[in-house]
Amino acid sequence: VLREDLHLTGAKFGCGEGQCGACSVLVEGKRVFSCRTAIQSVAGKSITTIEGLAQGEQLHPVQSAFLEEGAYQCGYCTAGMIINAVALLRENPRPTQEQIATGMNKNMCRCCSYIKILNAVKRAAGV
Ligand code: FES
Ligand code: FES
Repeated sequence: VLREDLHLTGAKFGCGEGQCGACSVLVEGKRVFSCRTAIQSVAGKSITTIEGLAQGEQLHPVQSAFLEEGAYQCGYCTAGMIINAVALLRENPRPTQEQIATGMNKNMCRCCSYIKILNAVKRAAGV
């Protein structure tokens, strides 16, 4: 629905099984795997995709941090990583490195940009 009906192509289809996080979106501020979410279950709820994070030309701080750290290669995982990082930092604005690693561990990066992704989340958190 997001990609084909609404043309919001930021969330990516990866595994389709809730294993990679590429399809992540926020529902009422919490990360969900959109590939495993029935549309009926989110009726009437607030849904934020990567397209909804920036305020006009102003990137969300997590988006800026990913850009500044160069935390991507092919970029396929990036929207899901950023969405999950936003949810993580809303719950815990000053996480430790271990908490970031644990909080991000349901998102996979096939390009193995994990160190830069970790640095980007740390930068966004200011830790
Ligand atoms: S495509 Fe949804 S978790 Fe992989
Ligand atoms: S940057 Fe390619 S999958 Fe993460």
